[in-house]
Amino acid sequence: MPDQVIRVTAERDYEVVIGRGLMGRLPSLLTGATRVAIIHAPTLTVQAQGLLTTLSDHNFEVTLIALPDAEAAKTAAVLESCWTTLGAQGFTRNDVVVGLGGGATTDLAGFVAATWLRGVTLIQIPTTLLAMVDAGVGGKTGINTGAGKNLVGAFYSPSGVLCDLDNLTSLNHEDLAAGMAEVVKVGFTSDPEILRIVQSDVGAAVDPHGSVIGELVRRAVQVKADVVSLDFKESRNGDVLGREVLNYGHTFGHAVEREENYSWRHGAAISVGMCFVAELARQSGRLSDEDADLHFSILESLGLPTSYAAGHWEDLFEAMHMDKKARGSVIRFVVLEGIGRPVAWDGPEPALLAAAYDTISRNQ
Ligand code: GLY
Repeated sequence: MPDQVIRVTAERDYEVVIGRGLMGRLPSLLTGATRVAIIHAPTLTVQAQGLLTTLSDHNFEVTLIALPDAEAAKTAAVLESCWTTLGAQGFTRNDVVVGLGGGATTDLAGFVAATWLRGVTLIQIPTTLLAMVDAGVGGKTGINTGAGKNLVGAFYSPSGVLCDLDNLTSLNHEDLAAGMAEVVKVGFTSDPEILRIVQSDVGAAVDPHGSVIGELVRRAVQVKADVVSLDFKESRNGDVLGREVLNYGHTFGHAVEREENYSWRHGAAISVGMCFVAELARQSGRLSDEDADLHFSILESLGLPTSYAAGHWEDLFEAMHMDKKARGSVIRFVVLEGIGRPVAWDGPEPALLAAAYDTISRNQ
């Protein structure tokens, strides 16, 4: 597959490049910089060293900042240590932060770039499937605090994103499947061709060496680019769905993540969340049996969970109320009225919600 370039026109215009062997493109994205800080996941030291060598050959002064793993990176203490390093290096407004890793790394690196000197150039290099199609594109940055996940942050666009599909070859099947949950989500809400591609050969869809995965990433990123170009800051406009459409399956999914003390992969929780909301839409007469069933069959074919243990309803219901996407005491869902036809639904009857939960927990 030739490299694909997708343009985002949000807070600033930038390009997302999708392809293989893309690291040679990085120097051209750093024009005007003297210093480059590569903030990277701890498992990517070798790749970070490789970039250091390449960039040093181009006369950049490079600093590597290795983060703790996964969500442990997204703390105020880690943020402060990054600021300390940038200060020690004499980082100026002309210098560049590069985020290299999964979603936690790109979220943290993005927030470092957003806050240092009130904003320096940011290049994101997401290395997981989930981060390529979600966190690495769109400009949501932030950290977790004692008050909750992602409650502190900034909308801050990168100046470029490199999705190098070669990075997917080191992921295990569970991580690829979890990333594919977000791809399939986009298929249900906005690009049904994604569902057709996955259904026709699920093995090819998750083969990190093949060409199908690149086409799926391209389609998912295109939808995300279109959505954030229209509604960068997720501004509500009555019943019109903007960026909120990306939260399909996330209201219940976030509650599951919380109930499981964040031990589940995000994509696995979102998979269950999509099944819950498909069941909610089916039982309220909004979605056909065929379209609701498609959620279960596609997600199961990827080895993702489509049910959740019984006996947790009260906790889950409370967690959905506390989710930052709820407003006041009203829980807002994105539901489908057909494949590719998402709508907002504020405050469904609690009995309907409980019935949808009952169904997906009976499938266990
Ligand atoms: N992950 C949802 C969004 O970027 O808005």
